[in-house]
Amino acid sequence: MQRPRALSEVSWDQLQAMSLAEKALSFQKNGRLFHVLIAQQFDRRQLEELGATATRVRQIAKSKAGMDFLRAQLSHKTAMLYFTQPSSRTFLSFHSACQMLGMKTVEVRDTATSSEVKGETQEDSVRTFSSFSDVIVMRSAVGGLAEKMAWVLSNAERPVPIVNAGSGKDQHPTQALLDIYTLQRSFERRGGIDRKTIVFVGDLLRGRTVRSLSQLLTKFEGVKQYFIAPEPLQIGKDILDLLRASGSDFEVGADFEKVMPEADAIYMTRIQDEWDEQKGDSRKIDISRFSLAAEHLKRLKPHAVILHPLPRRQEIAVEVDHDPRAVYWRQVRNGMWIRVALLTFIFDCADSIREFHGA
Ligand code: NCD
Repeated sequence: MQRPRALSEVSWDQLQAMSLAEKALSFQKNGRLFHVLIAQQFDRRQLEELGATATRVRQIAKSKAGMDFLRAQLSHKTAMLYFTQPSSRTFLSFHSACQMLGMKTVEVRDTATSSEVKGETQEDSVRTFSSFSDVIVMRSAVGGLAEKMAWVLSNAERPVPIVNAGSGKDQHPTQALLDIYTLQRSFERRGGIDRKTIVFVGDLLRGRTVRSLSQLLTKFEGVKQYFIAPEPLQIGKDILDLLRASGSDFEVGADFEKVMPEADAIYMTRIQDEWDEQKGDSRKIDISRFSLAAEHLKRLKPHAVILHPLPRRQEIAVEVDHDPRAVYWRQVRNGMWIRVALLTFIFDCADSIREFHGA
């Protein structure tokens, strides 16, 4: 096989022409995780190891001695949190994850307070940030921006890793990691994620979390995916093509009630109306059949789980929160643990976590 090409060795156009598998290799450094840009770059072994590390960290963090140990791990590192698109959970969980490992954080949450208002390009801004940090976690409304920045930095003096914390309508890989971790824990005593049926509901066209998670689910055996959405908001053809290419089992439809009894997990999403071409466009779409009400709960399997990346609107009735199958508030906390695990992979200290846990 050809030697994998590093990001610094390829032009932007060559990078765009690469297969996902080739791209994934170019995001590594010395055969290890470096940039975190797309969900497809993770393989099953990494997903299992990340989950196991997250669980070790959550157990270690219970004691003061454990927290002191964790805080010493990356006390020599600084993270730049560049979040120019609204965020509550992703921002707070990355912030908490950094703190748990003793990292210092610097933040940009609004380009109005950075030199971008003086006309500086995002490329130059990110290059500047790389001078003051050891990792850049970035959320942006621009699709593919994190990947572009990783490529730009690969030829800079200080090529630090970029972590995509949500890019436009295309990808949200770390949300997909926490969703997988939540599913791993939910199905721990029921054979894991293999052969489970996952039903995605809502705005699947513009929901980046669904696009990333549906790709990670292809890393497991015999998973069936349903995409249930009003026709104008149905999942993109690009994702369905990738599912076909990986031999995955899926169905596209609009009858939520019909598939409810089959689901092992239901993944609800809100209407992403901030992407409407004309403000208010998606209000014209009838979404009444794409929500989960208390009366639906009796249709679900006794062990089914209900997920949501949050924030929610009316697509899950608040009464559903009391059902033990609702795990979306657990997902929020899992987001912190999995992001700690991810940082220990990037900075190569997952082994010391394992040793401390085993001691
Ligand atoms: C999601 C996002 O930003 O894509 N939120 C999150 O990160 N948990 C989902 C959304 O905004 O609907």
